[in-house]
Amino acid sequence: MTKKKINKSSGTNRNRELDEKKIGVLTSGGDCPGLNAVLRGIVRKSLEYDYKIIGILNGWKGIFDEDYMILGMKEVSGIINRGGTIIGTSRFNPFTEKDGSSILLEKMKMADFDVLICIGGEGSMHIAHQAHKAGIKVIGVPKTIDNDIYGTDFTFGFDTAVGIATEAIDRLHTTAESHHRVMVVEVMGRNAGWIALYSGIGGGADVVAIPERKVSIEHMIDVIRNRYIRGKRFSIIVVAEGCQFSSDDFKNVKFDTKNVKLDDFGRPRLGGISHYLAEEIEARSGFETRATILGHLQRGGMPSAFDRVLGTRFGVYSVDMVREKKFGKMCAIQGNKITEIPLSKAISKLKTVDLEIYKVAQVFFS
Ligand code: F6P
Repeated sequence: MTKKKINKSSGTNRNRELDEKKIGVLTSGGDCPGLNAVLRGIVRKSLEYDYKIIGILNGWKGIFDEDYMILGMKEVSGIINRGGTIIGTSRFNPFTEKDGSSILLEKMKMADFDVLICIGGEGSMHIAHQAHKAGIKVIGVPKTIDNDIYGTDFTFGFDTAVGIATEAIDRLHTTAESHHRVMVVEVMGRNAGWIALYSGIGGGADVVAIPERKVSIEHMIDVIRNRYIRGKRFSIIVVAEGCQFSSDDFKNVKFDTKNVKLDDFGRPRLGGISHYLAEEIEARSGFETRATILGHLQRGGMPSAFDRVLGTRFGVYSVDMVREKKFGKMCAIQGNKITEIPLSKAISKLKTVDLEIYKVAQVFFS
């Protein structure tokens, strides 16, 4: 059966079920390296199907603000190696706004988008799922340095962040060794320890602390002391920002669990645990200890080759998902094959660290 060709500019009689032509694309949540590679992949693949790609500026907020830009060959030329996102991002959630759902639907209609591609992390996939339930044709593309989205082996951004953190650990090694110090290196990752685990193994850390498995401060100090006895007068401890400690864990330091600020998605903003740990380790053990928080450095700058390739594969695949009407789904990589899973599954839980890999890191905690 031949498909009816639709002229989208012919006004109100368009049959939306037969074809999609105008695709709105947004990047939502924290930026990460590889977003521009996805945008480039989407635009270039869309040429094949004659889709018009509209960049929605600053995440979901752009729909409310009606802030758009056409994304064509020119706009995506030369951006594969650029960090961040050329269309901006935010943690704006339309569904927490007053009358948000109806405003969103109204604005979608005004913009005349047939499909939305939402490139985002875990919080953004929740919004995408809600939008899908509200009747919008949505496709999700998973991004985040945290690598915590369920159903995909990797998210782009993670590899770059791990590379940056590993290099930082290498650099901290030389200064730690020179001064005979303990270095506590804090990495991002929210409630998943992926960045800590991979950079800790890659950088040869002596202890890796992740949210999924508690390591006592006493155990950290035992490792530092054992190393000292073996002639290693410095140690590197990698700690994930989301590691949970209670005030009982700290005997010398006043551990402040109050005054937690929230991000725009309403989640606690993390960061700072390394300062408490460094002070406590120094007070209990007598070893001079310093804390380094890598922070947003892990998200900035050029994407690694891996993230460029993964971002490009996701971008290209998501356009095929539009073509095949795979709405309400998120593309994913499983065993180096790009596939898709329902958004409902992707948001059903967090992908926390594979504890088999953590056992590998533990071999070196001695
Ligand atoms: O989700 C990515 C991430 O970088 C987390 O690892 C971190 O906790 C958070 O975003 C930081 O957010 P913000 O950029 O709002 O400080």
